[in-house]
Amino acid sequence: MTRGRPRKRDCQYHGRMRVLAIESSCDESAVAILDSADGLLAHQIFSQIDLHRIYGGVVPELASRDHVVRLLPMVEETLAQAGTTPADLSGVAFTAGPGLIGALLTGAALARSLAYAWGIPAVGVHHLEVHLLAPLLEAEPPPLPHLALLVSGGHTMLIDVERIGSYHVLGETRDDAAGEAFDKSAKLLGLPYPGGPELARLAISGRADAFALPRPMLDRPGLEFSFSGLKTAVRLAVEQGGDAPGTRADIAASAQAAIVDTLIGKTVRALQQTGHRALVVAGGVGANRMLREKLSARADAMGVRVYYPRLEFCTDNAAMIAMAGLLRLEAGEAETLSIRARAQWPLSTLTPSIELS
Ligand code: KG4
Ligand code: ZN
Repeated sequence: MTRGRPRKRDCQYHGRMRVLAIESSCDESAVAILDSADGLLAHQIFSQIDLHRIYGGVVPELASRDHVVRLLPMVEETLAQAGTTPADLSGVAFTAGPGLIGALLTGAALARSLAYAWGIPAVGVHHLEVHLLAPLLEAEPPPLPHLALLVSGGHTMLIDVERIGSYHVLGETRDDAAGEAFDKSAKLLGLPYPGGPELARLAISGRADAFALPRPMLDRPGLEFSFSGLKTAVRLAVEQGGDAPGTRADIAASAQAAIVDTLIGKTVRALQQTGHRALVVAGGVGANRMLREKLSARADAMGVRVYYPRLEFCTDNAAMIAMAGLLRLEAGEAETLSIRARAQWPLSTLTPSIELS
């Protein structure tokens, strides 16, 4: 198999492949169809934000129930959009973990059943690995090896990606993830769930230097993160600053700057340590405009190229599930007939069965 964008590729093991993928690890139901020669044929994302918003966060049981209702019609619609029949498919990929176990099981059960009915293999993929592989859907995929900054709602990690399937975690958060820091700060400011994009929007009209919020762990050596102290500092700023619109925007801008500066400081350190010249930024917080602008400027100055997924593929989607599924199916991987999903699944336990040369 050659490396590069999927539409230019034919697999040496199985020839052309077409994969249907299902994502259901949290509060997005998503389905996609990816072809190894023609690229992404169709994809759909349904966000459950409206369902969970009144509770201020994701309610796992509601998430599972909604996936059950939505996913099968979405599979039918995506097949129609892609002009594809089950007979054209080489396999079905699904998110096997980590994530909410009930939500994961809905996608796993559907994917495993469809694959059985259609007489094709099913392959379960790792949700964090797929975030890392999302930039492979773009015209210019990142070279290997590279450094990856994975910043999502549940994870903040710096990862040395030696090859696909072989991930060495250099540092991660000791408590809250970067996405959680955004979401919790937003909640303290009275913004609706999910707070990250809302806080970023409010921050546009604020002054980032208005409040001196801590840059956690930046003054200490190492590549670990900690964001729980920032949440406390934001709470104090909200209590002291009051809720005048200008003050709220200033707090939002200051909180965003503190999170972004911390992420950039540690990422620069990891680039210096590893000597990598390519950086992948993946996960929902990778959609943050300030992070993108500041990180790109710092990386440019270091002669490092940054690779981002397109904005809609930073947050959860099935196109990236299909990408990982395609690679793993091409490498000959497939599930047994049992339905497998794991709430916890360390990234470092993955093996490089995927060969990209
Ligand atoms: O990767 P993702 O979609 O889901 C997980 O696998 O966790 O990430 C969701 C996280 C949420 O915390 C959300 O608030 C955050 O990404 N997020 C953002 C932005 N867009 C999404 N945070 C800051 N700025 C954004 N523009
Ligand atoms: Zn995710």
